[in-house]
Amino acid sequence: MKYLDVEIRDMTDSDLPMVMEIENLCFKHPYKEKDLIYEMHENPVSNVWVIEYSNASLGLKTVVGFVDYWVTFDSGTICQIAVHPDIQHSGVGSELLKEVIKDAKAKKVKTLTLEVRESNLNAINFYEKHGFVISHKKPAYYSNGEDAIYMILEVK
Ligand SMILES: CC(C)(COP(=O)(O)OP(=O)(O)OC[C@H]1O[C@@H](n2cnc3c(N)ncnc32)[C@H](O)[C@@H]1OP(=O)(O)O)[C@@H](O)C(=O)NCCC(=O)NCCS
Repeated sequence: MKYLDVEIRDMTDSDLPMVMEIENLCFKHPYKEKDLIYEMHENPVSNVWVIEYSNASLGLKTVVGFVDYWVTFDSGTICQIAVHPDIQHSGVGSELLKEVIKDAKAKKVKTLTLEVRESNLNAINFYEKHGFVISHKKPAYYSNGEDAIYMILEVK
């Protein structure tokens, strides 16, 4: 990553306030706290990780992003990924996504898929930069009628 010393680890209950802040800042229809609790503790197929910035000399640790991705047999789905707006476009999301791809490969996942809003060009560029390709559109996929772009990565 370009500037920061970061660690990726499993999300815990103590990360909920920071992850909820990131969710609320990033999405019009964010996960609710109960959704995150379900993903962390009950969903058997989910992997929920945070990425934490640390500065040892300042004794500082801050969660700056998170990802929720599912593995079912040989398929993976990225359900949610977000980076705090103050630090977007500085490589944090890429670190998270690279870790997801590495983990998927270790779990013998063949394809990683996701849906992204057609208007979210930054995210579409982000996924394309990591090898995802656009497969097709899902018309009126979102509650406001917006189409989703369905993207796929063949994990190699
Ligand atoms: C999408 C997101 C997770 C990417 O994480 P990030 O840390 O900002 O991305 P990176 O810094 O690793 O950027 C990698 C690439 O993504 C694209 N990108 C990311 N942010 C961008 C921005 N603000 N403007 C233009 N391109 C951007 C670029 O292609 C960039 O490559 P570059 O650095 O060579 O220009 C993050 O921007 C985010 O949380 N966005 C809001 C939530 C969201 O839309 N999540 C995805 C839902 S499907």
